[in-house]
Amino acid sequence: MDQNVAIKSPPPDGPAATKGQALKALTENVDGGGSIFQQLAANPFFTAGFGLAGLGAAMRFGQQGLRRGSELLRHRLLVDIEITRHDKSYPWVLDWMTRQYQEQLTATAQGGKVGMMESLIRRFTPGLHHLQIRTDNVNLPGGGSQTHFSLVPGNGKHILRFQNTFLAVNRERIGKSFDSSGQPFETITLTTLYAYRHIFEEIFQQAHAFSQQNIEGKTVIYTRGQQSWIPLGDAKRKRPFESVVLEEGLADHIRGDVKEFLDARTWYLDRGIPYRRGYLLHGPPGTGKTSFVQALAGSLDFGIAMLSLSERGLTDDLLNKMLLNLPPRTFVLLEDADAAFNNRMQRQEDGYSGATVTFSGLLNALDGVASAEERVIFMTTNHIDRLDEALIRPGRVDMTVRLGEATQWQMEQMWERFYAHSDQDGSKKALFIERAKQYDLVDAVSTAALQGLFLYNKDDPDGAIDMLGQLLMAKSGSANEADGRAPKAG
Ligand SMILES: Nc1ncnc2c1ncn2[C@@H]1O[C@H](COP(=O)(O)OP(=O)(O)O)[C@@H](O)[C@H]1O
Ligand SMILES: [Mg+2]
Repeated sequence: MDQNVAIKSPPPDGPAATKGQALKALTENVDGGGSIFQQLAANPFFTAGFGLAGLGAAMRFGQQGLRRGSELLRHRLLVDIEITRHDKSYPWVLDWMTRQYQEQLTATAQGGKVGMMESLIRRFTPGLHHLQIRTDNVNLPGGGSQTHFSLVPGNGKHILRFQNTFLAVNRERIGKSFDSSGQPFETITLTTLYAYRHIFEEIFQQAHAFSQQNIEGKTVIYTRGQQSWIPLGDAKRKRPFESVVLEEGLADHIRGDVKEFLDARTWYLDRGIPYRRGYLLHGPPGTGKTSFVQALAGSLDFGIAMLSLSERGLTDDLLNKMLLNLPPRTFVLLEDADAAFNNRMQRQEDGYSGATVTFSGLLNALDGVASAEERVIFMTTNHIDRLDEALIRPGRVDMTVRLGEATQWQMEQMWERFYAHSDQDGSKKALFIERAKQYDLVDAVSTAALQGLFLYNKDDPDGAIDMLGQLLMAKSGSANEADGRAPKAG
């Protein structure tokens, strides 16, 4: 009882604690004579009938009291908290509820040795009975799509138990309105006893921690949903920055530039200059354009919003909208930037522009009046010769970088990443490079092909050396698709 008082739980004007104390005092032993009820039972006057009449009156009185009490309870003793769909914590709380429910399920399933109190509580803990399936359909930048299912608490009322406290949960749709992304407007209301209101804080902390657990050390990749960005499945483990091997010093040079830009926010804003920066990475396929942006985002703690301009169904209008509604702290990665330029040519030929982005649509999205004020964009292309000069302009593309076939330095670095432990003195590395020179593979094969060779011969440096000749095939392949070395814009 003293504890109860210490919690400072009494509602504004509720003398509940003192009432409780009085009641307890009544039922407790009074100097060895038994509780007051025992004393009454032993009293002949009481047993003769007066007592019974009195009890009847008390019960009637009690019934009324109960009714009034429950009203009072509603008004004074309960607290609720409402979370609307637009609040950031909304999905966290939904996920938290699902998790909570799953934990209850496994606890019941495991059964086994639990205390009597605990097993009683479990028996009376209701499960979540209306579940809803949440299907996230995301379009991969490559053109395919991927579907995720998760079970979340459905609309309606649920009871949840959290730390032996019961919570009423009401998930409710409000009206018939839909927001701009086509989601119905809804709220979740959590209700519990006033005395337990501190658990809300804990619930939100837990829900937030869960959501962070999924993100920490990871890179969130967003792709295109119907109208907005959707996280592509669970966040991916961060790709170590050093794992993408670019030409000597190049990776650090680009990262330095991005960092400088990120640190110069107030400089831009003070001068009324749109705070935007664009990078164009070009070069043959498999030279690490996409991977580098991922590794860079990971190292700077950014997410990536990823779109391919060759994606069907991506219209000018949609591209503009997407670039205006970026999730916070994300880099934009526009793959296959040349697609927009192909499209212009197509339109001239047959007068038809398909459901893909046009050149003017891209420029508009990049720097039209309505375009977002703050943004870092990376564009990639395998065919820089197909791009228009107009793209290389401050605010559109500020830095152009070619990622080319593996140089000797890159070959050595990648070798070390794979075989450093089994080739301590570097003699095999020297042999590998010597062979590569004989085959004329230096500056001629993609880093992806090299990685393929090393992966195939994992933990087997001799195997990699023996198979090196096979890269000659990759060489001819990549030479066909290469964009040539001459055009080096920017
Ligand atoms: N420079 C590099 N360093 C490390 N891995 C690379 C490099 N280039 C390509 N790779 C590997 O090859 C694969 C394809 O690379 P990707 O980044 O998709 O190339 P691109 O976007 O230039 O076509 C990835 O698995 C990546 O890890
Ligand atoms: Mg790529």
